Amino acid sequence: MMFADLAEPPLDPILGLAQLLAQDKSPDKVDLGIGIYQNEHGEAPVLDCVKTAERWLAETQPSKRYLSSAGNADYNTQTRGLLFGEGSDGFARSRTIQAPGGTGALRLASDLLRKLRPEGRVFIPGPTWPNHPGILKASGHEVVVYPYYDMAAGALRFDEMMAALADLGPRDTLLLHGCCHNPTGADLDREQWRAVAGLVAKSGAAVLVDLAYLGLGDGLAEDAAGIRLLAEQMPEFIVASSYSKNFALYRERVGALTVVGGSEKDAVLAHAHALPVARTLWSMPPDHGAAVVAKVLGDAELRRVWEGELTLMRGRINAMRERLATRLAAQGTRDYGFIAKQRGMFTMLGIAPDAVETLRRDHHVHLTSSGRINVAGLNANNVDRVADAIAAASTN
Ligand code: LMR
Repeated sequence: MMFADLAEPPLDPILGLAQLLAQDKSPDKVDLGIGIYQNEHGEAPVLDCVKTAERWLAETQPSKRYLSSAGNADYNTQTRGLLFGEGSDGFARSRTIQAPGGTGALRLASDLLRKLRPEGRVFIPGPTWPNHPGILKASGHEVVVYPYYDMAAGALRFDEMMAALADLGPRDTLLLHGCCHNPTGADLDREQWRAVAGLVAKSGAAVLVDLAYLGLGDGLAEDAAGIRLLAEQMPEFIVASSYSKNFALYRERVGALTVVGGSEKDAVLAHAHALPVARTLWSMPPDHGAAVVAKVLGDAELRRVWEGELTLMRGRINAMRERLATRLAAQGTRDYGFIAKQRGMFTMLGIAPDAVETLRRDHHVHLTSSGRINVAGLNANNVDRVADAIAAASTN
């Protein structure tokens, strides 16, 4: 028998929270778990620009015949434009493959790296998105964790990070978060990106950037500053990006793998080597979400609507960061000023798992056991109560 003696597998640290949330029948429960943007009413609605593009698609799509392993060509070009700026050198030296979500893009990158650099290790930040090591190990990579964030100080461990990265060799790969680091919200500044790029260029290591939250930090161009700087300083790197969050298209699985080469010819070659990898993984990516994104990005009016909707999301997240930090500061439990300075959906409270449990059980505030909260789950009605609950749970 193959299945009968199997032990229960452990719950996914993020997806497993759904069960606990569903079991909590309190009308006051607050979901600060999975990274989904919620509006001020705690809802995650379909964006207006997406609804319009979907109607257009339903009325005009002539066929559902296969496209190719690269997916929607228009979407791929629009994605490169969003990442590097249309007409830029990075735009010219890159090529994109549509992938099923950011996870699909990461798995494609991971398998491609394994093919091109079979003996290399992949260096990932500590902490990182819990799915990163799983994806990389599934391709057969050895994973090394480099120091990134000091939970107690609420700050980057940049000097320690640079010291650890001195160990990168020419067969290794460095994984970086492009913006809005998940789970910490702490990003490299411009000088730090420059220093990392310089160090990596010397080592000959590859770079893989996970960019899942573009536009949810400081703005579309601002959040692309890191990868744009890499494009100036490095001949080659890979970006795994996602429209799950900035287009609220989560379940449609809309991601992209972008390879940047030393020249346009190199990018075309890298792209050609990635296509057969995609062919064995999923053959063709799902179409709907990418067709919607391509329409919105390529239509001046819809793009204006999208940028407006994105600005509202970003503004609300940053306002909630301020409000939570201010309310926590008044409690005097610890210095939570870092929450207001960080960017993106997440921050780490730096509390013990039993305090996380207390928050869930006694205060109906749901977060990952690592102490990560999704700031986008806060709103004017719950933020003060959540702050008070955090203060109470972490002092008991
Ligand atoms: C998260 O970190 O909560 C999101 O990226 C959702 C996921 O797939 O884990």
